[in-house]
Formats: sequence, C-alpha cells, structure tokens
Amino acid sequence: MGANKELRVGLVGCGFMGRTHSNAFGKVNRFFDVEYQPVLAAVCARNRASAQAFADNWGYSSFETDWRKLVARKDIDLIDIASPNDTHAEIAVAAAEAGKMVMCEKPLGRNAAESEKMAAAVESARTPNMVWYNYRRVPAVTLAKQLVDEGRLGKIFHYRAKFLQDWTISADLPQGGLGLWRLDASVAGSGVTGDLLAHCIDTAMWLNGPIATVTAMTETFIKERSHAITGKVEKVTIDDASAFLARFQNGSLATFEATRYARGHKALYTLEINGADASIMWDLHDLHRLQYFDHSDEGRVRGWRALHITDGDHPYMKHWWVPGLQIGYEHTFIHQVADFLEALASGKPASPTFREALATDYVAEAVLQSANSGRWEQVRQ
Ligand SMILES: NC(=O)c1ccc[n+]([C@@H]2O[C@H](COP(=O)([O-])OP(=O)(O)OC[C@H]3O[C@@H](n4cnc5c(N)ncnc54)[C@H](O)[C@@H]3O)[C@@H](O)[C@H]2O)c1
Repeated sequence: MGANKELRVGLVGCGFMGRTHSNAFGKVNRFFDVEYQPVLAAVCARNRASAQAFADNWGYSSFETDWRKLVARKDIDLIDIASPNDTHAEIAVAAAEAGKMVMCEKPLGRNAAESEKMAAAVESARTPNMVWYNYRRVPAVTLAKQLVDEGRLGKIFHYRAKFLQDWTISADLPQGGLGLWRLDASVAGSGVTGDLLAHCIDTAMWLNGPIATVTAMTETFIKERSHAITGKVEKVTIDDASAFLARFQNGSLATFEATRYARGHKALYTLEINGADASIMWDLHDLHRLQYFDHSDEGRVRGWRALHITDGDHPYMKHWWVPGLQIGYEHTFIHQVADFLEALASGKPASPTFREALATDYVAEAVLQSANSGRWEQVRQ
C-alpha cells in the first residue's frame, strides 16, 4: 500500500505482549492504508539467546540485552514497552527524555505516582504516546462506543463489568520470575486490580465517562507462596480478587469484579450497559458479537439481537475479509497500531494517551484505598 515514511521500532520484552505487538507492526500496512510503516529495528530482552531467537522469528534486524542501549540508539524512533510493570516508568521516562515516541503496555505504572511521572515525561518531551488498552479496538466494543455516543441507549443507569480467570488457584504455584511476576506485588504493583480491572475500567470510562467514587473489597486467598527468584516462602501481597461498586459522574451505578479464582473461566471479560432506551452486552469469549436490545422496536418482535460484527460498515471490518467472516484477538493490536499511525500522520494524539490512561490508575488507586479503609473513596480526577 502507500506507506512511505519509516517508523523504526525498538521493542522491550519478548513475552506474550512482545508477540502481539510484533505481529501487529508486521501486518498493519498489509491491511491499512497508512502513511507510516513500522520497521522492526531492534528487540530487547535480558537473555541474549531469547532476544536473538525472537529477533530471528519476528524479523527484527538487531537485538539488545539492555534497554538503556536500545533507548540510546539513534536509529530508533519509537520505544514500545512490553515488559513487566516494574520496568514501565523508568523506560518510558528515559525514552521520552531521549526524544523517542513511546508506546506502553497497561497498566501504565505500578501505581498512580509512577504513571503521573510517565505522563509528565511524554508531555514535556511533546512526543507521541499511547497505552495498549487494546479492548477498545475490538470491533464490537468500538461499535458499542458509537451506539452510546449516538445517544441510542438514552440515559445510562447501569454499567456492569467482570474479568474472570482461574489460573492461580493452585497453592503450589510460585510467585515471581518469568511468567509469574504478576503474583509479586513489587513487580506488578497490584494484583487483579491493576491487571484485569484496569482493562474493565479503561473501557468503562471510554464508554460511560469518568468514575467519581468507589467502594471495594479485595482478598488474597493464598497468603504465602514460594518465590521463584529467592526460593523462599514469602507473603503474597497482591489482591487475588477485587470487586467494587462505583458511581459514574453521569449518575449511573456500576459493579466491577475481577478474580483469578473463578474455576472454569480463562479470560471471561464481559460488560453490560443499561440505558433508558436500549442495552448492550459484550463478552470476550464471543468477541465478534454485540448483544443489543432496543426498546423502540415493535413489541411483538422486541428482544435481544445478537449482532454479528463482520460487515464492512462495522468498525475496522472493511479492512479484513468479506462480510460474515470474523476476526480475533490479535486484530485488536493491529487496529491499535493503525490508529497510532493515522494519528501520527494527522498530528493528533492516539487514544488512550498516557494522560488518559492515568485516569484508570486513579480509579485503581481509589479501589485499593477503599479495600483498605472500608469506606467509599473519591477518585482523583
Ligand atoms: N493489553 C493486554 O491485554 C495485556 C495482556 C497481557 C499483558 N499485558 C501487559 O504487558 C506487559 C508484559 O506482559 P506479558 O504478559 O507480555 O509478560 P511476559 O512475562 O510474557 O513477558 C515479559 C517479557 O519482558 C521481558 N523482560 C523483563 N524484564 C525486562 C527488562 N528489564 N528488560 C527487557 N526485557 C525484560 C521478559 O524476559 C519477557 O520476555 C505487562 O505490563 C502486562 O500487564 C497487557
């Protein structure tokens, strides 16, 4: 297609997200007609053999084993952070100070204080930035946003979201180290609140506006686990489960729940919005469908419609196959890169920016405060 400007990417981290991002950078220009073309310049991982193998597999022309070297390189325009949460702030601030564009995985920092520094750094460097809250780019979720913005739901009364997994139920699972850093609060920042609920909160505020107040409960079901790095049995300080009630600024009420102890559920992210005129429901396990109920339908045929989001007039879908054929999880990342490149060409910010994503960290902060205090907490705005 017509891409004529190179965007040289330096990726940090070659795990799960390193793969989704690399796939997206490699495919975006084949499906989207955008001015910029990502060039896979370098990948960084601490282990030399892994970095080299990843570079070979995904087509990066070089690799580094220290992110500082990556950030210092003159032949890189964009630093993409896909490493664990404890690395985000330091890398993002250094990258912004080096004049690089910065993309960062969610949650932005381990806590709102880190995220504030990151937002300030990209803003003072005036460099393009974006956080990978990819669920906004599921076509069915983007359509939900369009329907809400068009006022089809009328006054919103309720927002309901949950994100359920079951992979940490075994008490034998260690915390810390590769793959299990999510169980170590010093690396992750928090448990399911910053990990799973962050997605729910980002989508919720994108669809339904700011959250004003919350009251929460959290639980750590397994109190001690052996640590994969120290080899010792250590206290677990992440939240294994987190549930909260919220009031949105628009007056609607919400419930949010996330856990890694819902036996049988692998990645069940669901959301539902109930308005005076219509309701919508969405489910990640059936991600190409949007359930829609429109009260203005004639009574005899009124009911929930299962919209199959595969047609050319659905968000993003004209770039893919033919009507009726669905796309999947990896496409959300391709959409996000496409939106970033389009924003870059037009000189506009790509959403969510670091500043916008900070709002999610303020909600997570209030959730954890409330779980601790037992009181309703105001969300910083
Ligand atoms: N958007 C999403 O849906 C989504 C999904 C999963 C993870 N995430 C986020 O993505 C980030 C990475 O998660 P993941 O699941 O890919 O983790 P992962 O454990 O699969 O991979 C992390 C990678 O980072 C590397 N790494 C660790 N420290 C490093 C350092 N100092 N320098 C360079 N590389 C380093 C590891 O070796 C590994 O390759 C996290 O912030 C996580 O919250 C987002």
